[in-house]
Amino acid sequence: MARNDLTPVLARPREQWASKIGVILAVAGSAVGLGNFLRFPGVAATNGGGVFMIPYFISLLILGIPICWVEWSIGRYGGARGFNSAPGILLALWPNRVSKYLGSLALIIPVGIFMYYVYIEAWCLAYAYDYLSGAMAAYAREAATEQEAVAAYQRHFADFVGMGENGFLVRGSLQKSVVFLVIVFIINFVLIYRGLTKGIEMFSKVAMPLLILFAVMVLVRVLTLGTPNPEQPDKNILNALGFMWNPKTGDQTIWQALANPEMWLYAASQIFFSLSVGFGIVLNYASYLRSDDDVVLSGLTASSTNEFCEVCLGGLITIPVAFLFLGPESLNKDVLGSSFSLGFIALPTVFARMPVGALFGAIWFFMLFLAAITSSLSMLQPAIAFFEEAFGMGRRLSVTCLGMLGAFGSLLVVFFSKNLLALDTMDFWVGGVCIFILATIEVTLASWVFGVRNLRIEVSRGAAMRIPGFFWFIIKYVSPTYLLVIFGLWVYYNLPTRIQDIRSMSSEDRGTVLLILSFLTVLLIFFGLLINLAGKRWRAEGRLDGLTGRATPEPRPTVRERSVIP
Ligand code: ALA
Repeated sequence: MARNDLTPVLARPREQWASKIGVILAVAGSAVGLGNFLRFPGVAATNGGGVFMIPYFISLLILGIPICWVEWSIGRYGGARGFNSAPGILLALWPNRVSKYLGSLALIIPVGIFMYYVYIEAWCLAYAYDYLSGAMAAYAREAATEQEAVAAYQRHFADFVGMGENGFLVRGSLQKSVVFLVIVFIINFVLIYRGLTKGIEMFSKVAMPLLILFAVMVLVRVLTLGTPNPEQPDKNILNALGFMWNPKTGDQTIWQALANPEMWLYAASQIFFSLSVGFGIVLNYASYLRSDDDVVLSGLTASSTNEFCEVCLGGLITIPVAFLFLGPESLNKDVLGSSFSLGFIALPTVFARMPVGALFGAIWFFMLFLAAITSSLSMLQPAIAFFEEAFGMGRRLSVTCLGMLGAFGSLLVVFFSKNLLALDTMDFWVGGVCIFILATIEVTLASWVFGVRNLRIEVSRGAAMRIPGFFWFIIKYVSPTYLLVIFGLWVYYNLPTRIQDIRSMSSEDRGTVLLILSFLTVLLIFFGLLINLAGKRWRAEGRLDGLTGRATPEPRPTVRERSVIP
Protein backbone atom coordinates (compact mmCIF):
# COMPACT_ATOMS: atom_id res chain seq x y z
CA MET A 1 0.00 0.00 0.00
CA ALA A 2 1.24 3.47 -0.80
CA ARG A 3 2.47 5.33 2.25
CA ASN A 4 1.66 8.95 2.63
CA ASP A 5 2.28 11.69 5.13
CA LEU A 6 -0.69 10.62 7.24
CA THR A 7 0.66 7.28 8.27
CA PRO A 8 -0.02 7.94 12.01
CA VAL A 9 -3.71 8.43 11.20
CA LEU A 10 -3.70 5.32 9.03
CA ALA A 11 -2.19 3.39 11.87
CA ARG A 12 -5.36 3.89 13.91
CA PRO A 13 -7.81 1.03 13.64
CA ARG A 14 -10.79 2.10 11.57
CA GLU A 15 -13.99 0.48 10.42
CA GLN A 16 -13.76 -1.25 7.05
CA TRP A 17 -16.04 -3.34 4.89
CA ALA A 18 -15.59 -7.05 5.42
CA SER A 19 -15.85 -8.03 1.76
CA LYS A 20 -15.91 -6.60 -1.75
CA ILE A 21 -19.35 -8.03 -2.50
CA GLY A 22 -20.56 -6.60 0.82
CA VAL A 23 -19.66 -3.02 -0.10
CA ILE A 24 -21.10 -3.36 -3.62
CA LEU A 25 -24.37 -4.72 -2.23
CA ALA A 26 -24.47 -2.02 0.44
CA VAL A 27 -24.02 0.76 -2.15
CA ALA A 28 -26.49 -0.94 -4.51
CA GLY A 29 -28.84 -1.35 -1.54
CA SER A 30 -28.62 2.36 -0.87
CA ALA A 31 -29.41 3.07 -4.51
CA VAL A 32 -32.20 0.56 -5.07
CA GLY A 33 -35.21 1.88 -3.24
CA LEU A 34 -38.64 3.38 -3.59
CA GLY A 35 -37.22 5.62 -6.32
CA ASN A 36 -36.76 2.59 -8.58
CA PHE A 37 -40.10 0.90 -8.13
CA LEU A 38 -42.51 3.75 -7.43
CA ARG A 39 -40.96 7.02 -8.58
CA PHE A 40 -39.30 5.93 -11.83
CA PRO A 41 -42.33 4.31 -13.54
CA GLY A 42 -44.51 7.35 -12.85
CA VAL A 43 -41.86 9.86 -13.96
CA ALA A 44 -41.09 7.89 -17.15
CA ALA A 45 -44.74 7.34 -18.11
CA THR A 46 -45.74 10.99 -17.56
CA ASN A 47 -42.73 12.35 -19.42
CA GLY A 48 -43.19 10.70 -22.75
CA GLY A 49 -42.57 6.99 -21.96
CA GLY A 50 -39.91 5.69 -24.37
CA VAL A 51 -38.78 9.16 -25.35
CA PHE A 52 -37.94 9.94 -21.71
CA MET A 53 -35.29 7.23 -21.83
CA ILE A 54 -33.15 9.42 -24.11
CA PRO A 55 -32.51 12.18 -21.52
CA TYR A 56 -32.55 9.49 -18.84
CA PHE A 57 -29.64 7.53 -20.34
CA ILE A 58 -27.78 10.71 -21.25
CA SER A 59 -28.08 11.83 -17.61
CA LEU A 60 -26.89 8.41 -16.49
CA LEU A 61 -23.83 8.67 -18.72
CA ILE A 62 -22.81 12.25 -18.08
CA LEU A 63 -23.98 12.71 -14.51
CA GLY A 64 -24.83 9.46 -12.76
CA ILE A 65 -21.85 7.25 -13.57
CA PRO A 66 -19.12 9.95 -13.58
CA ILE A 67 -20.27 11.55 -10.32
CA CYS A 68 -20.62 8.10 -8.82
CA TRP A 69 -16.94 7.44 -9.64
CA VAL A 70 -16.03 10.84 -8.22
CA GLU A 71 -17.87 10.06 -4.96
CA TRP A 72 -16.31 6.59 -4.68
CA SER A 73 -12.80 7.89 -5.25
CA ILE A 74 -12.91 11.02 -3.07
CA GLY A 75 -14.67 9.03 -0.34
CA ARG A 76 -11.87 6.46 -0.37
CA TYR A 77 -9.31 9.29 -0.47
CA GLY A 78 -10.82 10.87 2.66
CA GLY A 79 -11.05 7.50 4.37
CA ALA A 80 -7.36 6.85 3.77
CA ARG A 81 -6.68 10.14 5.58
CA GLY A 82 -8.75 9.11 8.57
CA PHE A 83 -12.08 10.76 7.71
CA ASN A 84 -15.42 9.03 7.20
CA SER A 85 -17.73 12.03 7.36
CA ALA A 86 -18.32 14.39 4.46
CA PRO A 87 -16.98 17.50 6.26
CA GLY A 88 -13.71 15.66 6.95
CA ILE A 89 -13.53 14.16 3.45
CA LEU A 90 -14.06 17.53 1.78
CA LEU A 91 -11.47 19.04 4.09
CA ALA A 92 -8.98 16.36 3.08
CA LEU A 93 -9.77 17.01 -0.57
CA TRP A 94 -9.42 20.77 -0.25
CA PRO A 95 -7.56 21.74 2.94
CA ASN A 96 -9.11 25.11 3.51
CA ARG A 97 -11.22 26.97 6.09
CA VAL A 98 -14.52 26.74 4.23
CA SER A 99 -14.44 23.30 2.60
CA LYS A 100 -15.65 21.40 5.67
CA TYR A 101 -18.80 23.55 5.86
CA LEU A 102 -19.81 22.37 2.37
CA GLY A 103 -20.10 18.96 4.01
CA SER A 104 -23.09 20.16 6.03
CA LEU A 105 -25.24 19.50 2.96
CA ALA A 106 -23.99 15.92 2.92
CA LEU A 107 -25.31 15.56 6.48
CA ILE A 108 -28.65 17.32 6.15
CA ILE A 109 -29.55 15.53 2.89
CA PRO A 110 -29.42 11.94 4.16
CA VAL A 111 -30.84 12.83 7.59
CA GLY A 112 -33.59 15.02 6.09
CA ILE A 113 -34.59 12.41 3.52
CA PHE A 114 -34.55 9.72 6.20
CA MET A 115 -37.14 11.66 8.22
CA TYR A 116 -39.85 11.10 5.61
CA TYR A 117 -38.46 8.10 3.72
CA VAL A 118 -38.69 5.93 6.85
CA TYR A 119 -42.40 6.81 7.10
CA ILE A 120 -43.09 5.62 3.53
CA GLU A 121 -41.04 2.53 4.34
CA ALA A 122 -43.40 1.92 7.26
CA TRP A 123 -46.42 2.17 4.93
CA CYS A 124 -44.90 -0.56 2.75
CA LEU A 125 -44.46 -2.89 5.72
CA ALA A 126 -47.99 -2.10 6.94
CA TYR A 127 -49.45 -2.85 3.48
CA ALA A 128 -47.53 -6.14 3.32
CA TYR A 129 -48.90 -7.03 6.74
CA ASP A 130 -52.43 -6.08 5.67
CA TYR A 131 -52.17 -8.37 2.65
CA LEU A 132 -51.07 -11.27 4.81
CA SER A 133 -53.79 -10.66 7.40
CA GLY A 134 -56.48 -10.31 4.73
CA ALA A 135 -57.32 -6.74 5.76
CA MET A 136 -56.29 -5.26 2.42
CA ALA A 137 -58.97 -7.18 0.52
CA ALA A 138 -61.52 -6.17 3.16
CA TYR A 139 -60.96 -2.44 2.52
CA ALA A 140 -62.54 -2.78 -0.92
CA ARG A 141 -64.88 -5.71 -0.30
CA GLU A 142 -67.98 -3.62 -0.91
CA ALA A 143 -66.66 -2.26 -4.21
CA ALA A 144 -68.64 -3.49 -7.21
CA THR A 145 -66.63 -1.75 -9.93
CA GLU A 146 -63.01 -0.84 -10.48
CA GLN A 147 -63.80 2.84 -9.86
CA GLU A 148 -65.37 1.96 -6.52
CA ALA A 149 -62.35 -0.14 -5.60
CA VAL A 150 -60.01 2.74 -6.48
CA ALA A 151 -62.17 5.07 -4.36
CA ALA A 152 -62.14 2.58 -1.46
CA TYR A 153 -58.33 2.26 -1.52
CA GLN A 154 -58.08 6.02 -1.85
CA ARG A 155 -60.20 6.48 1.29
CA HIS A 156 -58.16 3.86 3.10
CA PHE A 157 -54.87 5.56 2.18
CA ALA A 158 -56.14 9.02 3.13
CA ASP A 159 -57.25 7.71 6.55
CA PHE A 160 -54.11 5.66 6.98
CA VAL A 161 -51.80 8.67 6.59
CA GLY A 162 -54.21 11.32 7.93
CA MET A 163 -54.42 13.37 4.75
CA GLY A 164 -57.62 15.12 5.83
CA GLU A 165 -56.24 17.27 8.63
CA ASN A 166 -53.12 17.93 10.67
CA GLY A 167 -52.59 16.62 14.16
CA PHE A 168 -52.43 12.96 13.18
CA LEU A 169 -50.56 12.04 16.34
CA VAL A 170 -53.15 13.34 18.76
CA ARG A 171 -56.27 11.77 17.39
CA GLY A 172 -56.94 9.76 20.53
CA SER A 173 -56.47 6.30 19.11
CA LEU A 174 -53.16 4.80 18.05
CA GLN A 175 -52.81 5.02 14.27
CA LYS A 176 -51.59 1.97 12.38
CA SER A 177 -49.13 3.94 10.24
CA VAL A 178 -47.54 5.37 13.39
CA VAL A 179 -47.27 1.93 14.99
CA PHE A 180 -45.47 0.66 11.88
CA LEU A 181 -43.31 3.78 11.84
CA VAL A 182 -42.14 2.96 15.36
CA ILE A 183 -41.42 -0.66 14.37
CA VAL A 184 -39.49 0.32 11.24
CA PHE A 185 -37.66 3.08 13.10
CA ILE A 186 -36.49 0.59 15.72
CA ILE A 187 -35.37 -1.93 13.07
CA ASN A 188 -33.33 0.79 11.33
CA PHE A 189 -31.63 1.90 14.54
CA VAL A 190 -30.93 -1.61 15.77
CA LEU A 191 -29.24 -2.41 12.46
CA ILE A 192 -27.25 0.81 12.41
CA TYR A 193 -26.21 0.26 16.02
CA ARG A 194 -24.78 -3.13 15.03
CA GLY A 195 -22.31 -1.22 12.88
CA LEU A 196 -20.99 -1.22 9.36
CA THR A 197 -20.21 -4.88 8.84
CA LYS A 198 -22.60 -6.58 11.28
CA GLY A 199 -25.46 -4.21 10.52
CA ILE A 200 -25.43 -2.62 7.06
CA GLU A 201 -23.23 -5.12 5.23
CA MET A 202 -24.78 -8.23 6.69
CA PHE A 203 -28.31 -6.97 6.12
CA SER A 204 -27.61 -5.82 2.53
CA LYS A 205 -26.13 -9.23 1.68
CA VAL A 206 -29.42 -10.86 2.63
CA ALA A 207 -31.91 -8.17 1.60
CA MET A 208 -30.56 -7.35 -1.87
CA PRO A 209 -30.74 -10.86 -3.39
CA LEU A 210 -34.08 -11.39 -1.65
CA LEU A 211 -35.64 -8.23 -3.00
CA ILE A 212 -34.41 -8.97 -6.53
CA LEU A 213 -35.87 -12.49 -6.23
CA PHE A 214 -39.22 -11.09 -5.06
CA ALA A 215 -39.28 -8.45 -7.81
CA VAL A 216 -38.47 -11.09 -10.45
CA MET A 217 -41.33 -13.26 -9.11
CA VAL A 218 -43.76 -10.36 -9.51
CA LEU A 219 -42.30 -9.55 -12.93
CA VAL A 220 -42.76 -13.12 -14.18
CA ARG A 221 -46.35 -13.03 -12.92
CA VAL A 222 -46.97 -9.73 -14.75
CA LEU A 223 -45.37 -10.83 -18.01
CA THR A 224 -47.39 -14.04 -18.05
CA LEU A 225 -50.73 -12.33 -17.45
CA GLY A 226 -51.46 -12.28 -21.19
CA THR A 227 -54.98 -10.89 -21.62
CA PRO A 228 -56.56 -11.10 -18.15
CA ASN A 229 -60.04 -10.18 -19.42
CA PRO A 230 -60.85 -11.85 -22.77
CA GLU A 231 -63.72 -9.38 -23.25
CA GLN A 232 -61.18 -6.58 -23.41
CA PRO A 233 -58.52 -7.95 -25.78
CA ASP A 234 -56.78 -4.57 -26.02
CA LYS A 235 -55.78 -4.81 -22.39
CA ASN A 236 -53.02 -7.32 -23.05
CA ILE A 237 -49.46 -7.42 -21.82
CA LEU A 238 -47.92 -6.21 -25.09
CA ASN A 239 -50.11 -3.11 -25.14
CA ALA A 240 -49.37 -2.65 -21.45
CA LEU A 241 -45.61 -2.63 -22.12
CA GLY A 242 -46.24 -0.36 -25.10
CA PHE A 243 -48.12 2.09 -22.84
CA MET A 244 -45.06 2.37 -20.63
CA TRP A 245 -42.38 2.32 -23.29
CA ASN A 246 -43.68 3.62 -26.65
CA PRO A 247 -42.65 7.21 -27.22
CA LYS A 248 -45.66 9.38 -26.34
CA THR A 249 -45.18 12.69 -28.07
CA GLY A 250 -48.79 13.50 -29.03
CA ASP A 251 -48.74 15.51 -32.22
CA GLN A 252 -45.11 16.53 -31.68
CA THR A 253 -42.09 14.94 -33.32
CA ILE A 254 -39.58 13.25 -31.03
CA TRP A 255 -37.24 16.24 -31.55
CA GLN A 256 -39.94 18.68 -30.47
CA ALA A 257 -40.65 16.55 -27.39
CA LEU A 258 -36.95 16.47 -26.57
CA ALA A 259 -36.80 20.26 -26.75
CA ASN A 260 -38.85 20.45 -23.54
CA PRO A 261 -36.30 21.27 -20.79
CA GLU A 262 -38.54 19.93 -18.05
CA MET A 263 -38.05 16.39 -19.33
CA TRP A 264 -34.27 16.78 -18.96
CA LEU A 265 -34.77 18.14 -15.50
CA TYR A 266 -36.89 15.18 -14.45
CA ALA A 267 -34.42 12.74 -16.02
CA ALA A 268 -31.46 14.22 -14.12
CA SER A 269 -33.38 14.30 -10.81
CA GLN A 270 -34.42 10.70 -11.27
CA ILE A 271 -30.83 9.62 -11.89
CA PHE A 272 -29.58 11.41 -8.77
CA PHE A 273 -32.35 10.19 -6.53
CA SER A 274 -32.17 6.69 -7.84
CA LEU A 275 -28.39 6.22 -7.67
CA SER A 276 -28.21 7.99 -4.27
CA VAL A 277 -25.71 10.31 -5.92
CA GLY A 278 -25.39 13.78 -4.40
CA PHE A 279 -26.66 12.46 -1.06
CA GLY A 280 -23.28 12.23 0.65
CA ILE A 281 -23.91 8.52 1.15
CA VAL A 282 -21.46 7.08 -1.38
CA LEU A 283 -18.77 9.44 -0.03
CA ASN A 284 -19.27 7.97 3.40
CA TYR A 285 -19.55 4.32 2.30
CA ALA A 286 -16.44 4.59 0.10
CA SER A 287 -14.44 5.98 3.02
CA TYR A 288 -14.57 2.53 4.63
CA LEU A 289 -12.70 0.97 1.67
CA ARG A 290 -9.05 0.08 1.95
CA SER A 291 -6.94 2.61 0.09
CA ASP A 292 -6.13 0.15 -2.71
CA ASP A 293 -9.61 -1.33 -3.09
CA ASP A 294 -11.07 -0.98 -6.57
CA VAL A 295 -13.55 1.87 -7.02
CA VAL A 296 -14.10 1.83 -10.77
CA LEU A 297 -15.62 -1.59 -11.37
CA SER A 298 -17.30 -1.62 -7.96
CA GLY A 299 -18.96 1.75 -8.62
CA LEU A 300 -20.08 0.60 -12.05
CA THR A 301 -21.41 -2.69 -10.69
CA ALA A 302 -23.45 -0.95 -8.00
CA SER A 303 -24.84 1.54 -10.56
CA SER A 304 -25.65 -1.24 -13.02
CA THR A 305 -27.48 -3.21 -10.34
CA ASN A 306 -29.53 -0.11 -9.64
CA GLU A 307 -30.30 0.40 -13.33
CA PHE A 308 -31.30 -3.24 -13.73
CA CYS A 309 -33.73 -2.89 -10.82
CA GLU A 310 -35.04 0.43 -12.08
CA VAL A 311 -35.45 -0.12 -15.80
CA CYS A 312 -35.87 -3.89 -16.06
CA LEU A 313 -37.86 -4.53 -12.88
CA GLY A 314 -39.49 -1.24 -11.84
CA GLY A 315 -40.15 -0.19 -15.42
CA LEU A 316 -41.73 -3.46 -16.45
CA ILE A 317 -43.98 -4.06 -13.47
CA THR A 318 -45.84 -1.12 -12.00
CA ILE A 319 -47.37 0.70 -14.98
CA PRO A 320 -47.95 -2.37 -17.20
CA VAL A 321 -49.81 -4.16 -14.42
CA ALA A 322 -51.97 -1.11 -13.69
CA PHE A 323 -52.69 -0.75 -17.43
CA LEU A 324 -53.83 -4.38 -17.67
CA PHE A 325 -56.37 -4.14 -14.88
CA LEU A 326 -57.33 -0.47 -14.71
CA GLY A 327 -56.82 0.51 -18.32
CA PRO A 328 -55.09 3.56 -19.80
CA GLU A 329 -58.06 5.82 -18.95
CA SER A 330 -57.41 5.43 -15.21
CA LEU A 331 -53.68 6.05 -15.56
CA ASN A 332 -53.99 9.79 -15.79
CA LYS A 333 -51.53 12.42 -14.57
CA ASP A 334 -53.00 12.32 -11.04
CA VAL A 335 -52.20 8.65 -10.63
CA LEU A 336 -48.97 8.48 -12.59
CA GLY A 337 -47.59 11.78 -11.32
CA SER A 338 -47.72 10.71 -7.69
CA SER A 339 -45.82 7.65 -6.54
CA PHE A 340 -48.31 7.46 -3.70
CA SER A 341 -51.41 7.18 -5.91
CA LEU A 342 -49.72 4.67 -8.16
CA GLY A 343 -48.16 2.62 -5.39
CA PHE A 344 -50.70 2.81 -2.61
CA ILE A 345 -53.99 3.19 -4.47
CA ALA A 346 -53.74 1.90 -8.06
CA LEU A 347 -51.64 -1.18 -7.26
CA PRO A 348 -53.84 -2.45 -4.39
CA THR A 349 -56.81 -2.16 -6.78
CA VAL A 350 -54.87 -4.24 -9.28
CA PHE A 351 -53.87 -6.87 -6.75
CA ALA A 352 -57.53 -7.15 -5.73
CA ARG A 353 -58.38 -8.06 -9.35
CA MET A 354 -55.44 -10.35 -10.00
CA PRO A 355 -55.51 -14.13 -9.44
CA VAL A 356 -53.63 -14.82 -6.15
CA GLY A 357 -53.33 -11.06 -5.90
CA ALA A 358 -53.13 -11.03 -2.08
CA LEU A 359 -49.98 -13.15 -2.17
CA PHE A 360 -48.41 -10.99 -4.86
CA GLY A 361 -49.50 -7.87 -2.97
CA ALA A 362 -47.72 -9.13 0.15
CA ILE A 363 -44.58 -10.05 -1.84
CA TRP A 364 -44.60 -6.70 -3.66
CA PHE A 365 -44.95 -4.52 -0.58
CA PHE A 366 -42.48 -6.57 1.42
CA MET A 367 -40.06 -6.23 -1.50
CA LEU A 368 -40.62 -2.45 -1.40
CA PHE A 369 -39.94 -2.48 2.33
CA LEU A 370 -36.63 -4.34 1.81
CA ALA A 371 -35.63 -1.94 -0.97
CA ALA A 372 -36.50 1.02 1.24
CA ILE A 373 -34.73 -0.17 4.38
CA THR A 374 -31.38 -0.77 2.67
CA SER A 375 -31.68 2.84 1.45
CA SER A 376 -32.80 4.34 4.76
CA LEU A 377 -29.98 2.59 6.62
CA SER A 378 -27.51 4.24 4.30
CA MET A 379 -29.05 7.63 5.16
CA LEU A 380 -28.14 7.18 8.83
CA GLN A 381 -24.50 6.18 8.53
CA PRO A 382 -23.10 9.56 7.30
CA ALA A 383 -24.35 11.41 10.41
CA ILE A 384 -23.28 8.60 12.75
CA ALA A 385 -19.80 8.74 11.23
CA PHE A 386 -19.75 12.51 11.75
CA PHE A 387 -20.81 12.32 15.41
CA GLU A 388 -18.23 9.62 16.05
CA GLU A 389 -15.27 11.25 14.39
CA ALA A 390 -16.12 14.86 15.24
CA PHE A 391 -16.73 14.42 18.95
CA GLY A 392 -15.27 11.03 19.73
CA MET A 393 -18.76 9.75 20.60
CA GLY A 394 -19.24 6.04 21.08
CA ARG A 395 -21.64 4.14 18.86
CA ARG A 396 -24.38 4.11 21.48
CA LEU A 397 -24.31 7.86 22.06
CA SER A 398 -24.11 8.77 18.37
CA VAL A 399 -26.99 6.40 17.53
CA THR A 400 -29.04 7.87 20.42
CA CYS A 401 -28.42 11.46 19.28
CA LEU A 402 -29.32 10.67 15.70
CA GLY A 403 -32.32 8.65 16.86
CA MET A 404 -33.68 11.66 18.74
CA LEU A 405 -33.08 13.99 15.83
CA GLY A 406 -34.61 11.55 13.33
CA ALA A 407 -37.61 10.91 15.57
CA PHE A 408 -38.26 14.64 15.93
CA GLY A 409 -38.17 15.18 12.16
CA SER A 410 -40.34 12.12 11.45
CA LEU A 411 -42.88 13.27 14.03
CA LEU A 412 -43.11 16.63 12.27
CA VAL A 413 -43.83 14.79 9.02
CA VAL A 414 -46.43 12.61 10.75
CA PHE A 415 -48.07 15.45 12.65
CA PHE A 416 -48.41 17.80 9.66
CA SER A 417 -50.15 15.11 7.70
CA LYS A 418 -52.69 17.22 5.83
CA ASN A 419 -52.28 16.43 2.13
CA LEU A 420 -48.83 15.11 3.08
CA LEU A 421 -47.63 18.67 2.78
CA ALA A 422 -44.75 18.39 5.25
CA LEU A 423 -43.50 15.26 3.50
CA ASP A 424 -43.80 16.85 0.08
CA THR A 425 -41.99 20.00 1.21
CA MET A 426 -39.07 18.03 2.62
CA ASP A 427 -38.90 15.86 -0.47
CA PHE A 428 -38.84 18.85 -2.77
CA TRP A 429 -36.22 20.91 -0.96
CA VAL A 430 -33.96 18.23 0.49
CA GLY A 431 -34.57 15.34 -1.91
CA GLY A 432 -34.47 17.62 -4.95
CA VAL A 433 -32.81 21.01 -4.65
CA CYS A 434 -30.11 20.19 -2.08
CA ILE A 435 -29.06 17.08 -4.01
CA PHE A 436 -28.45 19.14 -7.13
CA ILE A 437 -26.37 21.63 -5.18
CA LEU A 438 -24.25 18.99 -3.44
CA ALA A 439 -23.63 17.05 -6.66
CA THR A 440 -22.49 20.27 -8.35
CA ILE A 441 -20.18 21.12 -5.44
CA GLU A 442 -18.66 17.62 -5.40
CA VAL A 443 -17.93 17.34 -9.09
CA THR A 444 -16.58 20.92 -9.29
CA LEU A 445 -14.34 20.49 -6.26
CA ALA A 446 -13.07 17.14 -7.45
CA SER A 447 -12.33 18.13 -11.02
CA TRP A 448 -11.27 21.76 -10.65
CA VAL A 449 -9.84 22.10 -7.11
CA PHE A 450 -8.45 18.64 -6.41
CA GLY A 451 -7.91 18.43 -10.13
CA VAL A 452 -8.42 15.79 -12.77
CA ARG A 453 -4.75 14.79 -12.58
CA ASN A 454 -5.03 13.95 -8.87
CA LEU A 455 -8.40 12.33 -9.45
CA ARG A 456 -6.95 10.07 -12.14
CA ILE A 457 -4.11 9.00 -9.85
CA GLU A 458 -6.59 8.34 -7.07
CA VAL A 459 -9.10 6.45 -9.21
CA SER A 460 -6.51 4.24 -10.83
CA ARG A 461 -5.19 2.89 -7.52
CA GLY A 462 -6.35 -0.72 -7.29
CA ALA A 463 -8.72 -0.19 -10.25
CA ALA A 464 -10.08 -3.40 -11.72
CA MET A 465 -10.75 -1.60 -15.02
CA ARG A 466 -9.69 1.61 -16.75
CA ILE A 467 -12.08 4.53 -17.01
CA PRO A 468 -12.37 5.37 -20.74
CA GLY A 469 -10.47 8.59 -21.48
CA PHE A 470 -13.47 10.66 -22.61
CA PHE A 471 -15.01 10.37 -19.13
CA TRP A 472 -12.32 12.73 -17.81
CA PHE A 473 -13.46 15.36 -20.25
CA ILE A 474 -17.06 14.71 -19.12
CA ILE A 475 -16.11 14.98 -15.44
CA LYS A 476 -14.19 18.22 -15.91
CA TYR A 477 -16.36 20.10 -18.36
CA VAL A 478 -19.62 18.41 -19.25
CA SER A 479 -21.02 17.33 -15.86
CA PRO A 480 -20.52 20.68 -14.06
CA THR A 481 -21.84 22.65 -17.03
CA TYR A 482 -24.79 20.36 -17.47
CA LEU A 483 -25.61 20.60 -13.75
CA LEU A 484 -25.41 24.39 -13.77
CA VAL A 485 -27.65 24.57 -16.85
CA ILE A 486 -30.18 22.23 -15.28
CA PHE A 487 -30.12 24.18 -12.04
CA GLY A 488 -30.68 27.38 -14.02
CA LEU A 489 -33.61 25.74 -15.80
CA TRP A 490 -35.03 24.61 -12.48
CA VAL A 491 -34.78 28.12 -11.04
CA TYR A 492 -36.44 29.48 -14.18
CA TYR A 493 -39.19 26.90 -14.61
CA ASN A 494 -40.00 25.38 -11.22
CA LEU A 495 -39.08 27.91 -8.58
CA PRO A 496 -41.60 30.60 -9.53
CA THR A 497 -44.41 28.03 -9.64
CA ARG A 498 -43.37 26.69 -6.24
CA ILE A 499 -43.33 30.16 -4.71
CA GLN A 500 -46.66 30.95 -6.32
CA ASP A 501 -48.10 27.69 -4.95
CA ILE A 502 -46.97 28.61 -1.43
CA ARG A 503 -48.50 32.09 -1.77
CA SER A 504 -51.85 30.78 -2.88
CA MET A 505 -52.11 28.22 -0.05
CA SER A 506 -54.44 28.55 2.92
CA SER A 507 -52.73 30.14 5.92
CA GLU A 508 -52.62 26.75 7.69
CA ASP A 509 -50.85 25.10 4.77
CA ARG A 510 -48.51 28.03 4.32
CA GLY A 511 -47.69 27.77 8.02
CA THR A 512 -46.79 24.09 7.56
CA VAL A 513 -44.48 24.82 4.63
CA LEU A 514 -42.78 27.70 6.44
CA LEU A 515 -42.37 25.62 9.58
CA ILE A 516 -40.70 22.80 7.65
CA LEU A 517 -38.44 25.24 5.80
CA SER A 518 -37.48 26.87 9.11
CA PHE A 519 -36.78 23.47 10.62
CA LEU A 520 -34.50 22.57 7.70
CA THR A 521 -32.69 25.91 7.99
CA VAL A 522 -32.16 25.39 11.72
CA LEU A 523 -30.87 21.90 11.00
CA LEU A 524 -28.41 23.25 8.45
CA ILE A 525 -27.16 25.88 10.90
CA PHE A 526 -26.96 23.25 13.65
CA PHE A 527 -24.77 21.01 11.48
CA GLY A 528 -22.69 24.08 10.50
CA LEU A 529 -22.01 24.82 14.19
CA LEU A 530 -21.12 21.21 14.89
CA ILE A 531 -18.73 21.23 11.93
CA ASN A 532 -17.11 24.34 13.33
CA LEU A 533 -16.51 22.57 16.65
CA ALA A 534 -15.31 19.47 14.85
CA GLY A 535 -12.81 21.52 12.84
CA LYS A 536 -11.33 22.95 16.05
CA ARG A 537 -11.08 19.51 17.55
CA TRP A 538 -9.43 18.00 14.48
CA ARG A 539 -6.93 20.84 14.41
CA ALA A 540 -6.11 20.40 18.11
CA GLU A 541 -5.63 16.68 17.56
CA GLY A 542 -3.25 17.35 14.70
CA ARG A 543 -5.45 15.51 12.23
CA LEU A 544 -5.18 18.29 9.68
CA ASP A 545 -1.41 18.59 9.78
CA GLY A 546 -0.49 16.33 6.92
CA LEU A 547 -3.33 17.19 4.56
CA THR A 548 -2.01 18.16 1.15
CA GLY A 549 -5.09 17.99 -1.06
CA ARG A 550 -3.08 15.90 -3.50
CA ALA A 551 -3.20 12.27 -4.46
CA THR A 552 -0.28 10.04 -3.64
CA PRO A 553 0.95 8.35 -6.83
CA GLU A 554 1.24 4.61 -6.62
CA PRO A 555 4.81 3.45 -6.16
CA ARG A 556 6.26 2.31 -9.48
CA PRO A 557 6.18 -1.48 -9.76
CA THR A 558 9.48 -3.18 -9.04
CA VAL A 559 11.29 -5.02 -11.85
CA ARG A 560 10.07 -8.29 -10.37
CA GLU A 561 6.43 -7.03 -10.23
CA ARG A 562 6.72 -5.67 -13.78
CA SER A 563 7.89 -9.03 -15.04
CA VAL A 564 4.67 -10.74 -13.87
CA ILE A 565 2.37 -8.09 -15.36
CA PRO A 566 1.36 -9.39 -18.80
N1 ALA B 1 -31.77 5.83 -4.01
C1 ALA B 1 -32.85 5.62 -3.13
C2 ALA B 1 -34.11 5.34 -3.86
O1 ALA B 1 -34.12 5.19 -5.06
C3 ALA B 1 -32.98 6.78 -2.19
O2 ALA B 1 -35.13 5.25 -3.29
